[in-house]
Amino acid sequence: MKRIVILISGRGSNMQAIQQACRAEGWNAGVAAVISNVPGAEGLAWAQAQGLSTATVDHRAHADRATFEAALTAQIERHAPDLLLLAGFMRILTAGFVERFAGRLLNIHPSLLPAFGGLHTHRRALEAGCKVAGATVHFVTPALDHGPIVLQAAVPVHGDDDEARLARRVLAVEHRIYPQAVRWFVHDELRLEGGQVRHRDAAPQWLFYTGDRA
Ligand code: GAR
Repeated sequence: MKRIVILISGRGSNMQAIQQACRAEGWNAGVAAVISNVPGAEGLAWAQAQGLSTATVDHRAHADRATFEAALTAQIERHAPDLLLLAGFMRILTAGFVERFAGRLLNIHPSLLPAFGGLHTHRRALEAGCKVAGATVHFVTPALDHGPIVLQAAVPVHGDDDEARLARRVLAVEHRIYPQAVRWFVHDELRLEGGQVRHRDAAPQWLFYTGDRA
């Protein structure tokens, strides 16, 4: 039984999608804890209502990144995770932290990496005139929004999109690819070869949105 710890900073809708898939499909895994760096983050209440263990490590209560990460690491290690997930966790992590969890640390980012790392991805994709946008699940390496790609989903950008509409369309596919990536990880279906992620049975590591104009 694999132990999953999820780090959030806000709404936690990706965390919810993962917990729901895990429970509904009876994965050989369980969410051991949900930890937020923001006191009162919306996702914490949902996790508590599910009976999940939750904790808060407030970055503002720490003098610097090193002491914050030491406290965060201690809280994570209490749950001895096999897999640590960043799910809308909006703090930059040091190389030391990332290396400690190397190979078992995943992130979701709302763009087709390596395009648009960092913030305001949808605004920047619209400003660039992109015709497709999307999301990426990747193993985390010390470079921000960088690392071996597990899965990507692409969605169309419509001429009348604004940031909020595009964000909604991308979020809908995030809720499909993050649970898929975690499902593969906990069932040992992923292989890291030469810095690239391959699915054991060559399952498609992409998803193209084919719905209506949602
Ligand atoms: C998601 O869109 C996620 O991709 C993004 O924050 C949102 C969190 O939503 N993450 C990043 O921008 C990380 N660089 P959620 O809290 O509802 O899952």
